[in-house]
Amino acid sequence: MKTTRQASTRIWDLPTRLFHWLFAAAVIGAIVTVKVGGSWMDWHMPFGVTALVLLTFRVIWGFTGSRYARFSSFVKGPRAVWHYLRHPEKHSPAGHSPLGGLSVVALLLVVAVQAGTGLFATDDILTSGPLNQFVSSDTAALLTSIHKWNENILFGLIGLHLLAIAIYALRGKQLVPAMITGDVPLENLPSNTVPAHDTVGLKIWALALIVVLGWMGWKLVNFAKLAPMGF
Ligand code: HEM
Ligand code: HEM
Repeated sequence: MKTTRQASTRIWDLPTRLFHWLFAAAVIGAIVTVKVGGSWMDWHMPFGVTALVLLTFRVIWGFTGSRYARFSSFVKGPRAVWHYLRHPEKHSPAGHSPLGGLSVVALLLVVAVQAGTGLFATDDILTSGPLNQFVSSDTAALLTSIHKWNENILFGLIGLHLLAIAIYALRGKQLVPAMITGDVPLENLPSNTVPAHDTVGLKIWALALIVVLGWMGWKLVNFAKLAPMGF
């Protein structure tokens, strides 16, 4: 089993990296389609449901993925975050830092609220989420306003995410290459760093998971097309 490349160590397994870039593309796609509007709105729900499918995948991956993808490796309490802020040099640079972990959880939660409320949202004219028909018009109005309002929090978090990455880069710590290749140069890691086991078995599990979740998402999008558009 080969988990390291020459002079570097595998930190992010392939499914986590694919998740990240597809998730970013789906969220950006959902935002762009709604902002451009018109017939582009037809693509809003497919992008939004794709984000939801990927998010569900990531939650399951947080318990079953490789070492650094697991929630247990990066979801820490306030004391650990505070300790990291005061002594960042004392924390291993492998995986998400306690502060980074906090931002990951926040991003996942905010997208969950965005995509979850979208399922029930409606513009009262043309576009309704697939589950809109199952709630009263008052509930739909509430969830639609949360869907619109939460956009501001989402923008804020994405802005902070990109700002944090830029600040690390300015301070000489490049985080993006590892999210692309999966590997961090050995010289940037403590000698006792354990590599992530990015194995074939794990990739097959990820593929099976995404096929099942993708099929459920596909059903949801097509259910939206069949669902009555209100009155
Ligand atoms: C990350 C995912 C998503 C983002 C960022 C997002 C963003 C938005 C935003 C900003 C609006 C408001 C547009 C306006 O100002 O009028 C909107 C509207 C809407 N979205 Fe989403 N959305 C997402 C996911 C979803 C999902 C999963 C669904 C349903 C399957 C959905 C269904 C709708 C509907 C029906 C509207 C129309 C509501 C209205 O215009 O009053 N969205 N979305
Ligand atoms: C809508 C846009 C984006 C969203 C919603 C988003 C979300 C996320 C999430 C959820 C993670 C955690 C990954 C995981 O553990 O599964 C993450 C990590 C990361 N993202 Fe993004 N991302 C976005 C855009 C970007 C962009 C454009 C870049 C590159 C410039 C980027 C670079 C990174 C890097 C480097 C990490 C790893 C940070 C670390 O080492 O702790 N992201 N992002």
